[in-house]
Amino acid sequence: LPVIVSGIQPSGTLHLGNYLGAIRQNIALANDETARSEAFLFIVDYHALTTLRDADALRRYTLDVALDYLALGLDPSRASLFVQSDVPQLTELTWIFLCLTPTAILEKGVSYKDKVAQGLTANGGLLTYPILQAADILAYTAPGRDLVVPVGADQKQNLEISRDTASRFNEAFCPDDPFFPLPEPYILDEVSVIPGLDGRKMSKSYGNTIGIFDEGKDLKKKVMSIVSDSTPLEDPKDPDADNTFALIRHFATDDERAEIAEAYRAGGYGYGHAKKALLGMIDRHFGEARERRRELAARPDDVRDILQAGAEAARARASDVTAQVRDAVGFLN
Ligand code: TYM
Repeated sequence: LPVIVSGIQPSGTLHLGNYLGAIRQNIALANDETARSEAFLFIVDYHALTTLRDADALRRYTLDVALDYLALGLDPSRASLFVQSDVPQLTELTWIFLCLTPTAILEKGVSYKDKVAQGLTANGGLLTYPILQAADILAYTAPGRDLVVPVGADQKQNLEISRDTASRFNEAFCPDDPFFPLPEPYILDEVSVIPGLDGRKMSKSYGNTIGIFDEGKDLKKKVMSIVSDSTPLEDPKDPDADNTFALIRHFATDDERAEIAEAYRAGGYGYGHAKKALLGMIDRHFGEARERRRELAARPDDVRDILQAGAEAARARASDVTAQVRDAVGFLN
């Protein structure tokens, strides 16, 4: 019986990489009644604060992620959807874990290293980011359940640090009866790195994203700007080397995928045709979610209620875990 745990930064508009790499799996695993799983899905505003300096934007992005999740079909009765900073126990766990973490490990963190390599000043939040993420995951530990973390490939290092953090705690304080399970990354190969408009990993920082809820002219403009090579219309093309097909494969039915791949290889099928097909598939895939999102956006109080109920459930588990951790390290409970 797994506990599904997954976080998303409210640092901008969510894109198809976030959706295909994580959100879709999060929702499917949480909604699956036969799995008898528990799910904690959260919006990591503490983490976003490592880069954002705009209170209104942070508030807006945070609510936007909640709206996105609900519009995309998350059933709030099957999952606790909440905002990270509503669970202050996480900062206490982070401190305790930090006291067990060699600084050399933090300095190897990819985001931290990148920043320093660019000659920029990295703040302490960015340095200790992976340990807050370990707290995010381990706080929802439940006896006899595995912790499963659906993410994209870019979170591999952070997940390893979470596992090491769990081990370090167990070794230091309860070697004979390990308290924390080692969290398991759930990374599906086919969607582990979704490419963006230019073929690099889809990422806000590259400006190569398609928003999950882009539609109409905006969406069309982005899809038409997907980078393709200069093979003439009539020549055969390799679908597996094309950025448009890389997205088509995730939205097509099996038959459509096979048909379009065949058309690429046969020649006479241009990248423009492929882009049109992709556009149609995105509209089809997200049509209902767009409608639901518009309806939900008109009822912000309902969304706040869902986040509050989620936060209560999250706090209940996190404070239980934190009490046991406090006891294990020798704090007076
Ligand atoms: P974030 O907010 O950058 O991304 C959210 C999720 O989307 C995935 N993702 C992608 N997957 C495939 N292809 C892409 N191009 C792509 N871009 C993004 C990410 O892998 C992620 O799963 N540190 C995390 C947030 C976090 C977290 C956690 C995740 C905080 N605490 C605890 C899991 C568990 C982050 O910045 O994700």
